[in-house]
Amino acid sequence: MSFIIKTESEIKKMRKSGKLTAEVLEMIEKYLQPNISTEEINQICHDYIVYEKKAISACLGYHGFPKSICISINDVVCHGIPNKGQMLKEGDIVNIDVSIIKNNYHGDASKMFCIGKTSILSKRLCAVAQESLYRSLKLIKPGIKLYKIGEIIQNYVEGNNFSVVKEYCGHGIGRNFHEEPHVLHYKNKENNIILKKGMIFTVEPMINAGNAQVRCMKDGWTIKTKDRSLSAQYEHTILVTEYGCDILTWQKNETISEKLINNN
Ligand code: MF3
Ligand code: CO
Repeated sequence: MSFIIKTESEIKKMRKSGKLTAEVLEMIEKYLQPNISTEEINQICHDYIVYEKKAISACLGYHGFPKSICISINDVVCHGIPNKGQMLKEGDIVNIDVSIIKNNYHGDASKMFCIGKTSILSKRLCAVAQESLYRSLKLIKPGIKLYKIGEIIQNYVEGNNFSVVKEYCGHGIGRNFHEEPHVLHYKNKENNIILKKGMIFTVEPMINAGNAQVRCMKDGWTIKTKDRSLSAQYEHTILVTEYGCDILTWQKNETISEKLINNN
């Protein structure tokens, strides 16, 4: 199977799902303070998704995932499970990953939040993760090869002496949470699918302050860095347009435009 090109009516639904995903991330920010538990954060997001937005969490029950969002703190790379014994504390860096379904179509995005005063390294890691995503989005337009995304992310991240996690990648998204193809965050020239208008996929680099290796914890979900170094991730769902891409999960406080014209 290859890339699905979305129809106009599907694109309309994906814009809606993307916007709703972004709104969850905007809504939760003010709650992310020391001493809130990750279970409470999960519950606030769940209630907002279900009761205010009349949507569904795509994570809840996905291959048995027990909660509505993923919360990944410090050395947790991804898929952290919210739990009532785990409190946010000053200095933490926290990834909130939100995936929703509205009118049968998915939205998927994540971002980092710094709790109180964080270290210079933490801030730099988060900034490099976000900038690596932004740089890749500024390349996307019809005619470019998929591996260009991974190439620019890897070059930028490694140029900053951080490493790119290889085990998890971006993905096509639409009626299904995960569709073809895999969007790698490192260079692989075999990844030579040519982007076309109407494709929708996520880009979601995970980067580590230490080496790239990761380990899965006994709960079967939580992924940590093997060397216990810090990890950061940003994710957007994007639509390839005629001259660039639209960030379907764009949030109000971002330093990149929602609609990118990529004419280089
Ligand atoms: N949101 C993640 C992604 O980008 C997947 C989370 S799957 C879950 O693909 F089950 F852990 F929620
Ligand atoms: Co994703």
